[in-house]
Amino acid sequence: GSASKGDYRHFMLKEIHEQPKVIAEALEGRLGDRSVLVESFGPDAEALLSKASQIHLVACGTSYHAGMVARYWLERYAGIPVQVEVASEYRYRRVVVPENTLFVTLSQSGETADTLAALRFAKQGGYLGSLAICNVPGSSLARESDLTLMTRAGPEIGVASTKAFTTQLTALMLLTLALGRVRGQDSEEQARLVSALRGLPAQVERVLELDPQIEILSQAFAEKHHALFLGRGAHFPVALEGALKLKEISYIHAEAYPAGELKHGPLALVDSEMPVISVAPNDELLEKLKSNLQEVRARGGELFVFADENVGLADGDDTRVLHLPYIDEALAPILYTLPLQLLSYHVAVLKGTDVDQPRNLAKSVTVE
Ligand code: G6P
Repeated sequence: GSASKGDYRHFMLKEIHEQPKVIAEALEGRLGDRSVLVESFGPDAEALLSKASQIHLVACGTSYHAGMVARYWLERYAGIPVQVEVASEYRYRRVVVPENTLFVTLSQSGETADTLAALRFAKQGGYLGSLAICNVPGSSLARESDLTLMTRAGPEIGVASTKAFTTQLTALMLLTLALGRVRGQDSEEQARLVSALRGLPAQVERVLELDPQIEILSQAFAEKHHALFLGRGAHFPVALEGALKLKEISYIHAEAYPAGELKHGPLALVDSEMPVISVAPNDELLEKLKSNLQEVRARGGELFVFADENVGLADGDDTRVLHLPYIDEALAPILYTLPLQLLSYHVAVLKGTDVDQPRNLAKSVTVE
């Protein structure tokens, strides 16, 4: 095919390293000085977005995790109620659609059977309109939706999605800002997020420089059979995505929990054979997360923490800490996804699996 791995050993690694460039492309022409350019979503976007009073987000797999992150953003920065659901469940539910609900699908391929069926079902169901956030121009999902926002990640060959996810998140932040704008978001907050977005590609570049350290960390996982990922708030879906990556390509059983749920079950599994991975950006939930991590340590669990350089978490006996540069908390879910992608990648390489073509999985699932 036309795609080439260049100097990279796998497409997945190449695609991980393309993220600074494709995130910049996803932003290109869509940001003004202090606010998002709603016009860049298409001529009808402003009228449609202004009418929306709720959002239903539907997707599968990694795209579903992007939707889960977006729920936190849309509620917090645009003040709009959001429901997120996997397409295979949504399409068979008797969904109650409140007036003026915007239906949003997320899909790398634009051809996932369940997501497409959900869109077709939604089109008969009294929605205000539909928006597809999608990576493949001209795909079925893009063609059949009222509005499209292309993620511009370029072809993604690795079955485990990486750059498609972070560009979806970038597009979802743009959607959040567009909705924020038409719904009266504080203009200083909008300007702060726009400027943080402009700096994002460079921050992603810096996180990729941690690769050699993450490769060393990965050795601790190669012999393990289970792993537990923890996050809070918008980082709970980041933890879910980290666990999914590890499952998909290294075949290690991995679960993700919102850290506050630890005491309601998974703590019973924690011992020295169960590595626990956590993302600890510098946000309002940090202190709560720290005490959750203390619970793990007290049970002899081996902890791996990706933390903001300013949060005061340091390496200890059973704790390995890797520091990420400071980032505006709104964008932290994008940045903290990267070390988890790299971790899974290196564990899979150590285990000798077929990284780009994991067993039993397909890049795009076009049958139900
Ligand atoms: C498959 C792929 C996943 C992807 C999911 C949804 O399971 O292996 O990487 O997240 O489909 O695909 P979509 O193209 O709709 O984002």
